[in-house]
Amino acid sequence: MDHFWNQRYRDKEYAYGMVPNEFFKSQILKINTGKILLPAEGEGRNAVYAAQKGWEVTAFDASIEAKKKAEILAFNNKVQMKYDLGSVEEISYDPESFDAIALIFAHFPKENRGKYYRKVSSYLKSGGILILECFSEKHIRNQQESPKAGGPKEASMLCSLEETKKELPDFNFLMAEEAEIILNEGLYHIGKANVIRMVAEKK
Ligand SMILES: C[S@@+](CC[C@H](N)C(=O)[O-])C[C@H]1O[C@@H](n2cnc3c(N)ncnc32)[C@H](O)[C@@H]1O
Repeated sequence: MDHFWNQRYRDKEYAYGMVPNEFFKSQILKINTGKILLPAEGEGRNAVYAAQKGWEVTAFDASIEAKKKAEILAFNNKVQMKYDLGSVEEISYDPESFDAIALIFAHFPKENRGKYYRKVSSYLKSGGILILECFSEKHIRNQQESPKAGGPKEASMLCSLEETKKELPDFNFLMAEEAEIILNEGLYHIGKANVIRMVAEKK
């Protein structure tokens, strides 16, 4: 897995671009700044944006090349963030120490997903906000139509609205929808996409 991501991120170009994910951007602007955690943050586009907007940012990813690219992006944008190297399994933070968490295209195998969501949400304070966007099961047909549609190719890595809600039992959902959108993110998230989008408050 790390091998795949390290290969992808070794290019000079940013795989998903240098600007933040649109959904993340629109939601993060609605909440008061504080401490945010970005698991599986890749090359840092969302982390850098949050830091620019005044958030105290911690991000992590299992890929060393992701961390390197993210740190270059932060340096070039003159912002500070803490970026840890490690997988969800390996990394840990103090319980209830973040005001927000964002899972943006953080796809995990179905058998681990609930466990990983519980682990990362244990770092969120009660009343803290989770922002999540992931490709839905319907996205497979976009991948069949276009190699640039992006997203995991294995159906078990994709999300469904009902299952994702079940995997997040500690949250009240402020919004939760399945949407068909057009992505234009860097080299690999291009064109029609079927996604799950959620904003949820921790109970
Ligand atoms: C599609 S990229 C998304 C990156 C970033 N969130 C963004 O939106 O630009 C998925 C990322 O998940 C990371 N990843 C996958 N499984 C992981 C795990 N178990 N722990 C930590 N990172 C993981 C990969 O290394 C990769 O950087």
